Amino acid sequence: MQIRADSGAARIGIEAIGLYVPRYYVPLRDLAVARGVDPDKYIKGLGQEEMAVPAPDEDVVTMGANAALEALADVDTASIDTLMFATESGIDQSKAAAIYVHHLLQLPKNCKSFEIKQACCGSTAALQMAMATVAQRPDRKVLIVAADVARYGLGTPGEPTQGAGAIAMVISNQPRVLALDAEWGAYTEDVMDFWRPNYLDEAVVDGKYSIKVYLKALTESWAQYVEESGRTFEQHDYFCYHLPFTRMAHKAHQHLSKWVGEVRPDNRRVQHSLVYNRRMGNSYTASLYVGLLSLLETAGADLTGQRVGLFSYGSGCMAAFFSGTVVPGYAAYVQKDRQAVQFDNRQRLTVEMYEAFYRHALPSDGRRYQTPAHETGVFRLSGVEGHKRLYECRAQSVHTRPLQPEVAIA
Ligand code: HMG
Repeated sequence: MQIRADSGAARIGIEAIGLYVPRYYVPLRDLAVARGVDPDKYIKGLGQEEMAVPAPDEDVVTMGANAALEALADVDTASIDTLMFATESGIDQSKAAAIYVHHLLQLPKNCKSFEIKQACCGSTAALQMAMATVAQRPDRKVLIVAADVARYGLGTPGEPTQGAGAIAMVISNQPRVLALDAEWGAYTEDVMDFWRPNYLDEAVVDGKYSIKVYLKALTESWAQYVEESGRTFEQHDYFCYHLPFTRMAHKAHQHLSKWVGEVRPDNRRVQHSLVYNRRMGNSYTASLYVGLLSLLETAGADLTGQRVGLFSYGSGCMAAFFSGTVVPGYAAYVQKDRQAVQFDNRQRLTVEMYEAFYRHALPSDGRRYQTPAHETGVFRLSGVEGHKRLYECRAQSVHTRPLQPEVAIA
C-alpha cells in the first residue's frame, strides 16, 4: 500500500506525540530477589531495570487520556476527525475505550471514536488507517491512543517483562516529528505464541516460541518493505523494534543484520530506543512508539533528516515494517528532560506493595465502589457503580473542562 509521496505537500506523519508512564515502579533487582532468581537474568538476560506498575485507580482509559493531554498540548482539538484507541487490555467487550477518552478530553461531537485490536500491532494498524484517512481528507487529523497493561502470572517467566503505559499521536499532513514513508511490509500467520482468552486476566504465552515467531515475522515483513521501497538496510540510520523487553531488540537487530549480510550488527542504531522501555517494561500497543520517543529524546544528537526503520509485532500474529524521516524542528515537540521529570519522580514499590496493586480488582457485582486514591496523572478511575466505570479529572487544562456529573464521582 502506498499512501504519500516522499516529499512535498503530500507528507503525512506524526504531528505530535505524548507519553504517560505510571507513577509507581518496582526495581527488577528486588523482584529477582523475591523470586529467588539471579538479578542478572532480568537485568542482563532480559535487559530490564525497572517495571512500571499502574495504580488501582488507573486503567487504559486514564493512561491513554493522560498521554493524549500531552500530545494535544498545542493542537486544536476541533481539528481531530477520528480517535482510534488501540489496546489489548480492553475494559469492555462492547463499548470502546475511545468513547471515554473522547468524553474526558471533550473532543468534538463529530469526531469518530473506536477501538482497534491485534495484540501489540493494533496501534500500527491504527497508524496505517490514520494515514489513509489523512490522505483522503488532508484537512483532517487523527488522534491515535495506544495504552496497555502487560500482565502475566505472578512468579512466571513472563512476570519480569510486565509493564504499563500509553502513547498518543496526532497524525496529520503537517508532521512536526516524523514524516512517514509510503511503503509498508506486512506479515500475518495464525500462531499461538501469546494470547489472552476472555476469561483470563493474564496472558497465556509460549515464550521461547514467541521469540522465534517475532524474528520470522521481522524478516518476512522487512522483505516486503524492501521490495516495495527499494531501500537498503544502510539507508536506515536507526531502527526501532517492538519492545517486549530490551534484549529482544538486540536479538532482532542481530537477526536482521545477519539476514541482510551485515557481519556485525551496529547496536548504536538501536540503543537510544531502549532507554525508556528498560525503565517501564512492555506496554504492548504503546511499546514500539515508546521506543521511537526514547530515540528522539535520548539520542543526544540532532536527528533531523535521519531515517528510522520501525518494526511492529503483535502476537498471534501480525507484523509490519515501515519507516519515517525525522522532521526539521522536531526537538521543539519532544521532551529531552523526560527521564528527570517523569521517570525519576516515580515512587518505588516493594514487591509486597506491587503484589497488592496486582491483586486489586474492581467488584463485578455492580455495587458502588470507590477506588483508593493513588498518584496518577490528571485523570483517574474513581470507582464503579451499577457496572459503570466512573472517571475523575484531577486538574483542569486547556483540554479538560469539569466533567459531566454522570462521569465524575462526587
Ligand atoms: P525464561 O525462559 O525464564 O528466560 O523467559 P531464559 O531462560 O530464556 O533467559 C532469558 C535470557 O537471560 C537468556 O538469554 C539467558 O541466557 C539469560 P538469551 O539466551 O535469550 O540470550 N540469562 C542470564 N543472563 C545473565 N545472567 C544470568 C542469566 N540467566 C539467564 N544469571 C521469556 C524469557 C522472554 C521467554 C519470558 O520472559 C516470557 O515468556 N516473556 C513474555 C513473552 C515475550 O515477551 N515474548 C517476546 C516476543 S513476543 C512479543 O513481543 C509480543 C508481546 O509483546 C505480546 C503482544 O504482541 O501482545 C509479548
